[in-house]
Amino acid sequence: MRADALNVGGEPVVTKLAMKMEDSLQAFAVRAACFIGELDVPFSEEFDGHDFGATHIIAYVGDEPVGTVRLRWFQSFAMPERLAVIQRFRGHNIGSVLLERCRAQAEARGCNMLYAQALPRDVGYWEKQGWRRLVAEDPDAGEKRIVAMVKAVDPSKPLPEIEAPEALVLRRDGRLDSTGMPPGTVSN
Ligand SMILES: CC(C)(COP(=O)(O)OP(=O)(O)OC[C@H]1O[C@@H](n2cnc3c(N)ncnc32)[C@H](O)[C@@H]1OP(=O)(O)O)[C@@H](O)C(=O)NCCC(=O)NCCS
Repeated sequence: MRADALNVGGEPVVTKLAMKMEDSLQAFAVRAACFIGELDVPFSEEFDGHDFGATHIIAYVGDEPVGTVRLRWFQSFAMPERLAVIQRFRGHNIGSVLLERCRAQAEARGCNMLYAQALPRDVGYWEKQGWRRLVAEDPDAGEKRIVAMVKAVDPSKPLPEIEAPEALVLRRDGRLDSTGMPPGTVSN
């Protein structure tokens, strides 16, 4: 475990990478409470088949798992997703501690860019954490479902502006079929 300079009720907040199944179950329990229980996300959307290829980070207050985020790895960026803190433990910046652990983890792997897909209502949260929109806001775009956000892993090396349209940078993952491969993929 790694200690972070944050206390809740006198207990330090620590973050840990899930190394064994029990750790992953703690991450999944936090997500089930926040996304399925609190935010009405369907189970099939929350547990989308990408959990076993991801790095899971868990925040603890004492022995209690109180927050989590999953980090997926791509060729040119790392992608934090499913950031959640149990409702009664909110208000202590535990989300920020989890995102900083993502940044440090990406840095340790030599990755330069963090990329996330945020709901419009959460863009203010990501901006407070030092993220920016990948594509400038288009006032004529109408109601958006998802916004692409980025952050440099090393704050002294800012990311270049990109020219790609938002439709391209928000490309969604293909659904996985029962073999764990995207539909149509030929497997041997
Ligand atoms: C997002 C989440 C992890 C943050 O939890 P947290 O670390 O306890 O956050 P805090 O309550 O300490 O808030 C940290 C700061 O972000 C701000 N903030 C929190 N949610 C926000 C939002 N949706 N939009 C803008 N600002 C937000 C707070 O006002 C606070 O600002 P301050 O430091 O200036 O006071 C938590 O709200 C959560 O689990 N939400 C449900 C799951 C979810 O929606 N996940 C995706 C969101 S990115």
